[in-house]
Amino acid sequence: MNSSRIPSLPLGGEGAQRQGGPHERAGPPQARIAPPRGEGAQRQGGPLNTRIVPVGGETIARAAALLHSGELVAFPTETVYGLGADAGNADAVRRIFAAKGRPADHPVIVHLGESAAVAQWARAVPDAARRLAAAFWPGPLTLVLPRAAHVSDAVTGGQDSIGLRVPSHPVAHALLMAFGGGIAAPSANRFGRISPTTARHVADDLGAGVALILDGGACDVGIESTIVAFTDDEPVLLRPGGIGIDALARVLGRAPRAPDGGAPRAPGTLASHYAPRTPAKLVATDALQAEMRQLASHDERVAVLARRAAGPDGGGELWLHAPAEAAPYAHDLYANLRALDAVAADVILIEAVPAGPAWLAVRDRLARATRGEDDDRD
Ligand code: TXA
Ligand code: MG
Repeated sequence: MNSSRIPSLPLGGEGAQRQGGPHERAGPPQARIAPPRGEGAQRQGGPLNTRIVPVGGETIARAAALLHSGELVAFPTETVYGLGADAGNADAVRRIFAAKGRPADHPVIVHLGESAAVAQWARAVPDAARRLAAAFWPGPLTLVLPRAAHVSDAVTGGQDSIGLRVPSHPVAHALLMAFGGGIAAPSANRFGRISPTTARHVADDLGAGVALILDGGACDVGIESTIVAFTDDEPVLLRPGGIGIDALARVLGRAPRAPDGGAPRAPGTLASHYAPRTPAKLVATDALQAEMRQLASHDERVAVLARRAAGPDGGGELWLHAPAEAAPYAHDLYANLRALDAVAADVILIEAVPAGPAWLAVRDRLARATRGEDDDRD
């Protein structure tokens, strides 16, 4: 699923290098006028043509102008696509919530073009936060810091903190530099749905709710940023993500602690966030065959995400072969969940993934995707 790797310009620095291996980018985004593989047909003709645009200098300038006039622009980051608004314009930020159908008291991350801009948005940056920023920005890390006085409640959800991130994706970086300010952006999906990792996902979810979608191809990391809060005595891991816990621990000297009841609210951490519509269930590897047979015997239609190549006889409605390693697994995860959802099976079975720190963020997303519908959603 969604295996197209979209070449684009690697930024210098550690963030870009960490995304090496099969996800490595090459070549400038301006060269990517051709639509990503598999998406061209959908964009030919039809109203979407006017809103999903391939990236070039002109479209970046147009996107920046739209942001300045208070409009919403969806753009690729190395994690997932973001739904951006001028973070200095509270009315524009409120439009994000309307487009997403998200409650207004949920905070949004402000994206910055360079680390130095943090001083404009946070009133204090602890030394440990500085070290994380130096190690992982630009890249898939969000720091939650005490907010500066001018930051609007629309951005912070009324909290005294602000989430900040310097993305490494060249299109996000180019947009931020052209815009010249902070861009508030949650993931560009409807509230409670799976985050988008392609421009097409954004269009499917948000339709006319967004003025422009910059098409930077499929996102490299594929799951959201790691969020570390510095609003307490010690760093708190609010959400595992694109930067692994081991990497954080190497820089901090120890792993950030898990949130307790007093930690700042991160609605993305609510249980059924990232959920497909079809009921989904995590199944241990050695129980998968028996579970499929059992469901088949009740005429249940099954869609499967598994790291083994072939299903048992019958195979279900859809058998998606997920990558064996954590990084490519995460890269494909949301596109895979969307594909599994699209076949409208009675149930989605997801083969459990390994224990261990490399899989922490994936396990987190799978746990949320397979939990019930009773919980609140972001
Ligand atoms: O990778 C990402 O982080 C993507 C891309 C677009 O940057 N963004 C993203 O945003 O995932 P969103 O809004 O879907 O999830 C961000 C999470 C939310 O759960 C939000 O509540 C939390 O970060 N958050 C933002 N600001 C916060 C703050 N000041 N305190 C606590 N949590 C915060
Ligand atoms: Mg989100």
